[in-house]
Amino acid sequence: MKDSDLIRAARQARRNAHASLSKFKVGAALETVDGTVVTGCNIENATYGLTICAERVAMFKAVSEGHRRFRRIAIVADTERPTPPCGACRQILWEFGGNLEVILANLRRETGRHRLSDLLPVPFDRTLL
Ligand code: THU
Repeated sequence: MKDSDLIRAARQARRNAHASLSKFKVGAALETVDGTVVTGCNIENATYGLTICAERVAMFKAVSEGHRRFRRIAIVADTERPTPPCGACRQILWEFGGNLEVILANLRRETGRHRLSDLLPVPFDRTLL
């Protein structure tokens, strides 16, 4: 799959965001090693604190559907500067997805590209337990 296809899937998922509180809509598209794409969007609710980010929705959907090995994630927000995953999402992406390629984009163009190990250089994970 081309990068642009994965970014397009994240843009499409972003349209489903529930972001009535922050107005900040995010979409994510996670690619498994067999080429399946699982998407997510951020979902806010009246308690504020139970908000879940697009990246974690995508990863939890994928894990719940039996996917275990992943290649890349595209994350889309309507910002000129890159919108990288928050700390909580970095942790979950690392634990379930390993050293993913993280592609950042806005509604028009790619804005950044990272390895997850660069975004979370000293991770806590099950190898320490
Ligand atoms: N958000 C995401 O979904 N992913 C990110 O990478 C950054 C933040 C969401 C959470 C909340 O609904 C809104 O964006 C503002 O923080």
